[in-house]
Amino acid sequence: MKDVRQTLLDRVSIRRYERETIPAETMEFIRDAVRNTPTSYNGQQFSVIDIDDQSLKEKLYELTGQKQLKTCNRLLIFCSDYNKISLLARKKRLEMPAITDTMDGVTIGIIDASLAMMSAVVAAESCGLGCNCVGYLRTVDPKAVAEMLKLPKGVFVVCGLALGIPREHPDLKPKQPAGLVFMSNHYRQDTDEMTAELADYDAIVTEYNRTRSGGTTANDWCAHILEYYDHATTYRILQYLKDQGYEVKK
Ligand SMILES: Cc1cc2nc3c(=O)[nH]c(=O)nc-3n(C[C@H](O)[C@H](O)[C@H](O)COP(=O)(O)O)c2cc1C
Repeated sequence: MKDVRQTLLDRVSIRRYERETIPAETMEFIRDAVRNTPTSYNGQQFSVIDIDDQSLKEKLYELTGQKQLKTCNRLLIFCSDYNKISLLARKKRLEMPAITDTMDGVTIGIIDASLAMMSAVVAAESCGLGCNCVGYLRTVDPKAVAEMLKLPKGVFVVCGLALGIPREHPDLKPKQPAGLVFMSNHYRQDTDEMTAELADYDAIVTEYNRTRSGGTTANDWCAHILEYYDHATTYRILQYLKDQGYEVKK
């Protein structure tokens, strides 16, 4: 098992996997790590759909075009979940507050599911597995995914996580320097200097993209990210939330 430092600092997204099955005890460890994730109020507002059915993985691949969904050994889909607490509240004849009609309710579920996914990432990586978060499972055709996974009201997909034995070892991607990530005591006020540091980072990513092992591109960081944002403006997530029983009003 890798130590925590190596696990966290060497992590990269892995999208190609060997055919081998992940050992049962490794999956057990990942599941325990996920279950022990810190959650809002200890309400554990998340669930994980654990997919080992190859035909289902292939259907999800066809929907999203994300090849790693069919080649991974295991696909974990992290969902925000208020269905479980609603079921129990109903049984105990307790009134369920309209938490799913609030932005904070939505945020809580997303935070809990995301932290749970990060627990899985760290646990999996520490055991030598490779993984890749797959947001397209939420965005490309949410209704079809919800139907395939038989999600009840109160539950929606936050993100998928493909897991497997790594079949590639990509370079570490350069990340923003500490000065742009950590701001001492308050948000930075030196906008010009910040912009200059961001431009330096942009140049580093551009150079990385031009020279990295595997496929190279002529992308710069900023324009590339803006392209993703532009595409993301076409997603209809509010409608998805409504379909899943969320009526966000405040
Ligand atoms: C919430 C989330 C969603 C993501 N969705 C996808 C995806 O749909 N497809 C994909 O190939 N990578 C996806 N990624 C992986 C990112 O592209 C990757 O983390 C980023 O490029 C940084 O590279 P690294 O993980 O190797 O450091 C996602 C990552 C996160 C955190």
